[in-house]
Amino acid sequence: MDAMTLLHERSSMGKLTGPAPSPEQMEAIYRAALRAPDHKELRPWRFIEFSGEGLERLGELFAEAEYREDPSIEDAALDAARKKPLRAPMIVAVVAKVTPDVEKVPKIEQVISAGCAAHGILLAAHALGLGAMWRSGKYAFDPTVRKGLGLEGEDELIAFIYLGQLAGRHKPIAEHRLSDFVERWT
Ligand SMILES: Cc1cc2nc3c(=O)[nH]c(=O)nc-3n(C[C@H](O)[C@H](O)[C@H](O)COP(=O)(O)O)c2cc1C
Repeated sequence: MDAMTLLHERSSMGKLTGPAPSPEQMEAIYRAALRAPDHKELRPWRFIEFSGEGLERLGELFAEAEYREDPSIEDAALDAARKKPLRAPMIVAVVAKVTPDVEKVPKIEQVISAGCAAHGILLAAHALGLGAMWRSGKYAFDPTVRKGLGLEGEDELIAFIYLGQLAGRHKPIAEHRLSDFVERWT
């Protein structure tokens, strides 16, 4: 796939199945992530990869988050939380590892850089013929999950990227009128 086709046609896939991406594929994917633009080379990225029992441990963390929020929660709801990560054979959590008070690189720039890294993961996965979907949801902002994943200070959990083999068809790509988004000063 040539680069412009990839940029024009990348699309998300929520229906994913095994096997998980291979170690070689993941290396190529992380190398793409590490090409994110990065002001002052802070490398404000951390990737936590979950597969196998790791996905179950993440599910336990989600269930714990639910329980802490509402100790009277029903077992069925706890179970639903536990099962959320099992929708894919692999998840990569992308953390913006924020260094506070860096001159000329405020937090927002570091978070944007991590967002670019996440996009790099999506693009590389698509280029490799894998399915990928960026999810956040309430767990990305939950204090129990943040603590369980070792986030500190101003770090932000910006993505849970679900990865695997395609188990459905890509939805048609939305057509946009460029004039709705682009202004030109000439
Ligand atoms: C920061 C961020 C968080 C997202 N969180 C979710 C989510 O929790 N659940 C979801 O269904 N889609 C979420 N999405 C959107 C999907 O990843 C996807 O981009 C969207 O469904 C459009 O599909 P496309 O990427 O094929 O255009 C999120 C996107 C971004 C950028």
